[in-house]
Amino acid sequence: MSTIGIIGAGHIGSQLARLAVANGYHVVISNSRGPDTLSELVSELGPRARAGTVLDAARAGDIVVVTIPLKNYRTVPVEPLADKIVIDTNNYYPQRDGHIAELDNESTTTSELLQAHLPTSKVVKAFNHIYAAALTTDGQPSGTTNRRALVIAGDDLAAKTTVAHLLDQFGFDAVDAGPLKQGWRIQRDTPGYGPRRTAEELRKDLAAARRYADQ
Ligand SMILES: NC(=O)c1ccc[n+]([C@@H]2O[C@H](COP(=O)([O-])OP(=O)(O)OC[C@H]3O[C@@H](n4cnc5c(N)ncnc54)[C@H](OP(=O)(O)O)[C@@H]3O)[C@@H](O)[C@H]2O)c1
Repeated sequence: MSTIGIIGAGHIGSQLARLAVANGYHVVISNSRGPDTLSELVSELGPRARAGTVLDAARAGDIVVVTIPLKNYRTVPVEPLADKIVIDTNNYYPQRDGHIAELDNESTTTSELLQAHLPTSKVVKAFNHIYAAALTTDGQPSGTTNRRALVIAGDDLAAKTTVAHLLDQFGFDAVDAGPLKQGWRIQRDTPGYGPRRTAEELRKDLAAARRYADQ
């Protein structure tokens, strides 16, 4: 696993790019406006990073991160992501994304939508409940007491193991919430969404989460 493709170069995409290059990965990062608009970021990131189109990032990545406003998930290219691990950071904000009926009625979850769009990819939900700035300030070495933990969810166990290892490299413990359909337990307005939590605390937050309809 040497290259991480990143689709979305905003708050989260740029921070994950910083963590990736700091941990020895190559990065191909992209946005909606094109690589020319990312020259400042890639010059900050240094020689292990380059800007590309969305297709470049999707093709180049051994792992690919999708970190864009949820409303645009259908623009993510399908074929270049076949068989790849795709990390989904996205959250649903109706005021930004418009209303999505299946999310409003809670018959699916954000990452299941992306998985349905990318049927042959291995989607793992991760990095959705930490503020972007904290990604580069809250990480600590493996084994640190009270280390911050982050939730992962996914339907492919091997993919989750790989992403948990990535989280560990980036400075965080991983707590497995189960399959993608359990991802609602860490969605917006749940107890674990936002604050710094250890693995033990996060497990309690996941258990205490309530559906929007039950809040
Ligand atoms: N901000 C946080 O602290 C935070 C924390 C956890 C999760 N999240 C979630 O993670 C996702 C990204 O959040 P963010 O705060 O990083 O967003 P952001 O700062 O608004 O950045 C969004 C990025 O996505 C790009 N983009 C938009 N549509 C695209 C498309 N169709 N194809 C390729 N790139 C596209 C934008 O490129 P252009 O600028 O060129 O349009 C921009 O680089 C959201 O779903 C958000 O809810 C955010």
